[in-house]
Amino acid sequence: MSHADALSHIPAPRQLPFFGNTLDCIHDSDGLQARCVRDFGELYRISLLGRWRVTFASADAIDYILTDPDHIFSAAGGWEMIAPLFGGGLMLRDGADHKAHRRIMQAAFRKPAMDSYLAMMAPALENLLKDWPQGKRLRFFPAVKDLTLRMGAHVFMGLAVDDPQAEVLNRAFRAELAGALTPIRRPLPFTAFRRGLRGKAELTATFRALIAERRAAGGDDFFSRMCRAEDEAGRAWTDDEIVTHFNFLMMAAHDTTASGLTTMAWALAQHPHWQDRLAAEVDALDDGPMTPAMLGAMPLTEQVFREALRLIPPVPFIPRRATRAFDWRGTHIPAGTELTLAMGWVMRSPAHFTDPETFDPDRFAEGRAEHLSHRYAWAPFGGGMHKCIGLHFSMMQVKAFTRALLSRHRIEPARPGPTTWAMMPIPRPRGDLPLRLVPRLG
Ligand code: HEM
Repeated sequence: MSHADALSHIPAPRQLPFFGNTLDCIHDSDGLQARCVRDFGELYRISLLGRWRVTFASADAIDYILTDPDHIFSAAGGWEMIAPLFGGGLMLRDGADHKAHRRIMQAAFRKPAMDSYLAMMAPALENLLKDWPQGKRLRFFPAVKDLTLRMGAHVFMGLAVDDPQAEVLNRAFRAELAGALTPIRRPLPFTAFRRGLRGKAELTATFRALIAERRAAGGDDFFSRMCRAEDEAGRAWTDDEIVTHFNFLMMAAHDTTASGLTTMAWALAQHPHWQDRLAAEVDALDDGPMTPAMLGAMPLTEQVFREALRLIPPVPFIPRRATRAFDWRGTHIPAGTELTLAMGWVMRSPAHFTDPETFDPDRFAEGRAEHLSHRYAWAPFGGGMHKCIGLHFSMMQVKAFTRALLSRHRIEPARPGPTTWAMMPIPRPRGDLPLRLVPRLG
């Protein structure tokens, strides 16, 4: 029996010849999910790029698969598609190997390291925001993407924010990411895949050239820390491992945060009342450089960011592969099956959130805490062994950005009408979200 036949007992929506459900997934993944959940419930399959994927759209199933008590699910197998460009990255490792590498990377996320990133980040943000136009139309999405990349080059690599190399890196990253997700998987001339491989070669050469210098001279930036990082047993990374991990980490860090910040800015522009509340929170902080203590004094900013990630999660699906057969609530899933965990769907489910389509950051406030109704009701950073290692870093960056932006400006929509979102490869507003920064009075 073929693998496709072995999945035939799992319900599936109608397929287009040749394309299966690929076009629907690209253009209207929300609509496709809504129809499937309505017709089939929490478990169904779709055909994507010529392969069947079984989708799990419930918090219980996501809990079981991410917690993985029976050691069945492979992240490397799930993310196989991006392996030509990001193979060897932390997310593309499994089991003991993953654990050993994660332990080394953890060293670069300890409290003293995080405090030094904040000290580098906050003034850099102030500097970068000075170049954003006042009172004029600003295409927010590309602007914030450029900003997070320059911040990344500064905090992660120790480059100056205006270093021209940041733009070269930006281009190489864009090519690499586009290449990772393109359907043509051979390096044919003029293809995104080939440009992606070229981008990767450029980036890895740049990182490799820095290693010896950073090992010798040190520095507070992330890359220098990774060059020195060791686990408790004193194991460090080889040059190849440093380059591989860093290549993945830069990708994981910057596009996701840029997408989340864009959703947050969009929501704040639509909800001036929330902007007032965040401006008051920012105004209540002491003057002077941003300190770690200030992060704890920004709970409303945290609520707004959480709500932005709930409504439009930068990673709406997590893929896994079943290395062995298993049963989920009476349905048999054969070994080798590719799985999709639909956290984005669960985070907008009325089973966990009141009026789930409404922007309502107070749902995260103490007392309501709707996200605690199930430990996977709100999971934009995933969970289990592979839970996002940069979660606190991204929250810190968002708070530093909010303080730098809202202490001096209000943001307003620069175009009437609703914003629609393209969800692939990572959520972005169609039309790039034109906003206007208006100086605050007083
Ligand atoms: C809003 C921002 C972010 C979101 C929504 C996000 C989301 C995620 C998700 C869902 C995963 C788990 C994937 C899986 O289980 O297959 C993940 C893993 C990861 N993220 Fe993030 N991420 C964000 C920011 C960051 C930042 C800022 C960094 C680095 C500073 C980072 C580094 C990583 C790494 C290294 C992994 C792999 C962890 C592992 O496999 O052990 N992420 N992220």
